[in-house]
Amino acid sequence: MSSNQVTSITSLNDGKTIPHLGFGLYNSPPDVSQKSIEEAIRCGYRLLDTAQYYENEAQVGAAVKQSGRDRKEFYVVTKMLGSNEASMEQDLASLRKSVEIIGLGYVDLFLIHSPTFGREGRARLFKAMITLQKEGLIHSIGVANFGVKHLQQLKEDTNVTPAVNQVELHPWCQQRDIVDYCEKENIVIQAYCPLVRGEKFGEEGLKKIAEKHKKNPAQVLIRWSLQMGYIPLPKSDNPKRINDNADVFDFKLDDEDMKVLREYDQGSEGAIVAKAIGSDPTTCE
Ligand SMILES: NC(=O)c1ccc[n+]([C@@H]2O[C@H](COP(=O)([O-])OP(=O)(O)OC[C@H]3O[C@@H](n4cnc5c(N)ncnc54)[C@H](OP(=O)(O)O)[C@@H]3O)[C@@H](O)[C@H]2O)c1
Repeated sequence: MSSNQVTSITSLNDGKTIPHLGFGLYNSPPDVSQKSIEEAIRCGYRLLDTAQYYENEAQVGAAVKQSGRDRKEFYVVTKMLGSNEASMEQDLASLRKSVEIIGLGYVDLFLIHSPTFGREGRARLFKAMITLQKEGLIHSIGVANFGVKHLQQLKEDTNVTPAVNQVELHPWCQQRDIVDYCEKENIVIQAYCPLVRGEKFGEEGLKKIAEKHKKNPAQVLIRWSLQMGYIPLPKSDNPKRINDNADVFDFKLDDEDMKVLREYDQGSEGAIVAKAIGSDPTTCE
């Protein structure tokens, strides 16, 4: 594995850059996550994807400090769930608290975690993020689980286009309308659940592609995401898998492989998380 490729970067619409491959941290308990992040850093991952909700923001900061590497090498993403009832002051305080808990001076990318708290609340929280961006505490701002309508409304309400939309994205849930809109608006897509949490590793077509390239199904799914131009965020607390999931730069899926994977799409039916958390991006309230 070449760490140069793990850390290769893509440009955002705000002039900043972001690494091509990330490390997911959902469901990584705080007593385990710091060791996992340290292992990920050794493997070359530099983008670390946490959230207030995951309760491991502090471990991200601690692992980065423990690495002894320059802060600027890392790309820390966190997210905040908004609320209908919050005020601008409360939103600002909550954003500042994350920056403080992470303890690295600034957050590279702050995302609105979910659109499910109303148009007004989304615009207010995004404006709070813009304020902290001006103060230098947040470098880039974005959203997660936003459908096309949510993105259009946010732009109308704030005059700012988010740099990133993080959505569930894998061959069984290809989110084509969101991807098309984001491409048009120059919004980079981060793909969550890139491994479909292991639920599809037994699919015959996927297994055949993996055998052909002498790779495992997880590596094929990560490679698919990279070749589609997304930023996949595979999560693991297992050191061997953390390594394997970054070892995806010595092979390339060909047109035939990409066709097999493209045909797995089940639209919103293929989502395993978006519905569970009630933020199906195809609906908009
Ligand atoms: N914005 C949002 O609303 C949102 C929602 C969901 C996820 N996310 C982000 O996206 C990241 C990835 O999504 P996810 O964690 O839900 O799912 P995922 O990355 O698709 O799958 C993670 C699961 O697969 C297992 N796994 C990892 N590598 C493997 C391998 N090589 N072989 C076999 N099993 C493997 C992991 O177990 P072990 O840990 O035991 O290896 C874990 O149970 C999250 O961690 C989070 O950062 C964001």
